[in-house]
Amino acid sequence: MRILITGSSGQIGTNLALRLSRDGYDVFGVDKRLNTWTDEFRYLLQDLSGHYPSFPGGIGGVEYPEVDLVVHLAAHAKVHQLVRQPHRALENAIMTFNVLEYCRQQKLPIVFSSSREVYGDVHRFSTQEGQADFAFTESTYSASKIAGEALIYSYARCYGLPYLVFRFSNVYGRYDNDLARMVRVIPLFIHTMLRDEPVTVFGAEKTLDFTYVDDCVDGIVRGIERLLAGRVVNETINLAYGQGNTLVRAAQLIAGAVGAEPKITLAPPLLGEVTHYVADTSKARQLLGYEPAVPLEEGISRAVQWFREHRELHPERDDDSFIPEMVAMNAELARPAGAVADHS
Ligand SMILES: NC(=O)c1ccc[n+]([C@@H]2O[C@H](COP(=O)([O-])OP(=O)(O)OC[C@H]3O[C@@H](n4cnc5c(N)ncnc54)[C@H](O)[C@@H]3O)[C@@H](O)[C@H]2O)c1
Repeated sequence: MRILITGSSGQIGTNLALRLSRDGYDVFGVDKRLNTWTDEFRYLLQDLSGHYPSFPGGIGGVEYPEVDLVVHLAAHAKVHQLVRQPHRALENAIMTFNVLEYCRQQKLPIVFSSSREVYGDVHRFSTQEGQADFAFTESTYSASKIAGEALIYSYARCYGLPYLVFRFSNVYGRYDNDLARMVRVIPLFIHTMLRDEPVTVFGAEKTLDFTYVDDCVDGIVRGIERLLAGRVVNETINLAYGQGNTLVRAAQLIAGAVGAEPKITLAPPLLGEVTHYVADTSKARQLLGYEPAVPLEEGISRAVQWFREHRELHPERDDDSFIPEMVAMNAELARPAGAVADHS
């Protein structure tokens, strides 16, 4: 079977493409950036956010190889970036529209990468798929994922397009330490603690469902198999580990894994952030036989090991020129007092 992956140079895209290739799938990627991690699969460099007039054969008149299914991961994937640059949210929606038009014309099923952000900052014990209430839109990033999901559902209704929507949550591990491009909290904390420097946790109580990348990819592959076979179609599914951990605990685990004293500064959460989310994963377990296997302690230890090995091979990436910019950005995003929504 042949799979097209958009966003194939990103963290999930790279891990997924390598896993699918190993499983015998023929993988073709599309991304606007070079893949700096591997050259083990073919991909095309293309910006998918253009207003393209034609789609047959490939987006923007470019001929893609024939495929059987599309996994659409390409997006501006950082909440804070989209709060600062809201036009990127529109680009996310345009990318999804372009990919959907291509799928419609080629009659291809689509797997879409949504996010737990669509639930808003809902302080529930754990969150089921049907509980998304799109009135609670915390950020322009959430809005772009809600828009993406809405487009998918409308294409299913109007044109019979088969889909699976996955809602991911804090995916961490291999191929996520390109810090200058995208500052994600787990690799940032590993980077900082390896230097024995303090980290700032925005939100003392912030509780998130951290998902080791192999669990996430395993769920996607299970979905692809079932969607191709027509066994699981038109479903929206949480893919996460299914357990809440505070960010403070994650920071402490990282300190333990790197062998440093945890130096943690607490600050209020930033504008647009979800501060509490735990996924109900029963639907993924039931429909996909999904069994996440890597709890946070184990995942952090693997992430730290991978990080160290990668930095040894690429010492030039041990750079923190991006940190002053990040500090300025966070100051800009500080939540005004009283802006923490209570959706309980
Ligand atoms: N990693 C997570 O924790 C997480 C959580 C929820 C949802 N998601 C979603 O999953 C998907 C994959 O996430 P990721 O962590 O691999 O992100 P990533 O940023 O590592 O990868 C996204 C890729 O999309 C590409 N891209 C962006 N704009 C593009 C454009 N105009 N044209 C072509 N390519 C473009 C980027 O170059 C990048 O390689 C994203 O849609 C993201 O929003 C991720």
